[in-house]
Amino acid sequence: MTHIFLYGPPGTGKSTIGKIIADNLKIPFIDLDRVIETNAGKTIPEIMESQGESAFRDLESKALQETVGHAFSVTKVIALGGGALLREENKHFAQANGTVLVLMAELNTLLERLQNKPNERPLLAGDLKSKLTALLEKRKEHYESFPLKIYVDNKTAKQNALKAQIKLGRHHLSAMGEYDVVVGDLSNLPNLQNTIIVTDENIAKHHSKTIQDLKIKTIVVPAGEEHKNLETVHRLWKSFLENGLDRKSTVIALGGGVIGDMTGFAASTYMRGIDWIGVPTTLLSMVDASLGGKTGFDLPEGKNLIGAFHPPKLVLADAQFLKTLPERELISGMAEVVKHGIISDPELFERCNNGLDWVKENLEEIVKRAMAVKIKVIEDDPYEKNIRAKLNLGHTVGHAVELVSKFDLRHGEAIAIGMAVEANYSARVGLASRSVVEAIESVLKKLHLPTQIPTELSKEEIIKAMRVDKKKNAKSIRFALPVEIGKVELVDVDDLEAVLN
Ligand SMILES: NC(=O)c1ccc[n+]([C@@H]2O[C@H](COP(=O)([O-])OP(=O)(O)OC[C@H]3O[C@@H](n4cnc5c(N)ncnc54)[C@H](O)[C@@H]3O)[C@@H](O)[C@H]2O)c1
Repeated sequence: MTHIFLYGPPGTGKSTIGKIIADNLKIPFIDLDRVIETNAGKTIPEIMESQGESAFRDLESKALQETVGHAFSVTKVIALGGGALLREENKHFAQANGTVLVLMAELNTLLERLQNKPNERPLLAGDLKSKLTALLEKRKEHYESFPLKIYVDNKTAKQNALKAQIKLGRHHLSAMGEYDVVVGDLSNLPNLQNTIIVTDENIAKHHSKTIQDLKIKTIVVPAGEEHKNLETVHRLWKSFLENGLDRKSTVIALGGGVIGDMTGFAASTYMRGIDWIGVPTTLLSMVDASLGGKTGFDLPEGKNLIGAFHPPKLVLADAQFLKTLPERELISGMAEVVKHGIISDPELFERCNNGLDWVKENLEEIVKRAMAVKIKVIEDDPYEKNIRAKLNLGHTVGHAVELVSKFDLRHGEAIAIGMAVEANYSARVGLASRSVVEAIESVLKKLHLPTQIPTELSKEEIIKAMRVDKKKNAKSIRFALPVEIGKVELVDVDDLEAVLN
């Protein structure tokens, strides 16, 4: 995995935020200025005074090369000095060895932070305001030349670290196991010995070159939920054996939720459990199925009846795969994205409000934000004790509608209907305002998702299905109901008819 470089004007909090990010990702943190000082045996103001800026920049370049190290060195978060990438060679070097995130802030924010430390930054010595204004003006174009940026004003360091991680698409989950979640291309896959890729025929067809370039033996299974069964899992076990996979091997699941669930399950049971990596290729699997460690397959009697919790070692989501995803699948996945927005990310909800065309042009951003919501919920409740039930928004009604439609409706289409129905109920019982319901329905429509139960589906059947889906003898069913955009509440409901009316 590649290094993370935090860059930007002095006072934006690169070191403070960098330490928090490194802590969250469980990787080392390096402050380049401290490396320079240690190497030189002098403080930066002393180096500047005795040797001048050009000599300081030489030391800085050398420290950067040393810190990054060789190609296989441990991934680190590296906070850079505010001018460390002014030299083209340093800029190229950093970009070739990692991702550069620029932290930006308004002049007033920086002034407030810097005025207490007058002697630490020799380039700003004297009249701070005019020196800083000039420096920002001079470097404006330079900072703008980096594609990834966040603004750090009016937020705590912790909030900014999370914002940075979302922008970078880098997380580490500690829930039933430890694993990294990365949004990025396949160069982020670790070098693995004795491994195998499991994929389905659609992905193998659309992405044959990408798969070939990985130079890893690949098993291709038939596509679709109807093949998420014991027969396919058995085929996977046999292939693992024929290909000499042992307890130290890792399998790569390259595909949608069906491939992820089955491969994860096959890995959980092969030789009492081997490692696996999830490379989700549908929107639904990126923002939902690949996160949380649930694996399994279907029985003729019902979906996901056999399974195990077996989190992957890494989830690597490359939004490029979504370019070949059939539109109906993409739209279906957007229902889960909207759900994540309603649960806790109003900004994500607002982006969805831009409509389907905008979404298609900004899929990586959508994936990054939506994954972050699910990651946070899992971290807060790894064992599904309470708040993870928030993820059920739209699902109590949605699952029942999906079932009664005999799966004519895609999962996301049914969930969209479920969200609209449950939002209307939430307004009727006084939890949400009508404007919240209107906002939810409007976003769903802009994404070409349905908001009403098809008239041909029987409401009695849907109510029956809701009861069966949950605990059969439970008096009430727990719903996750929207209260406002960004907030849901868990509510026990006994009168299911009232939900549908
Ligand atoms: N484990 C979990 O926590 C969890 C959560 C939600 C859903 N799921 C499971 O996920 C499954 C649904 O996932 P899904 O919607 O990804 O279905 P899927 O895996 O069947 O993929 C949908 C279709 O898209 C095709 N496809 C996949 N990626 C493609 C690409 N990049 N380009 C072109 N075609 C592509 C597939 O071949 C398939 O035909 C269900 O089985 C469900 O039970 C699991």
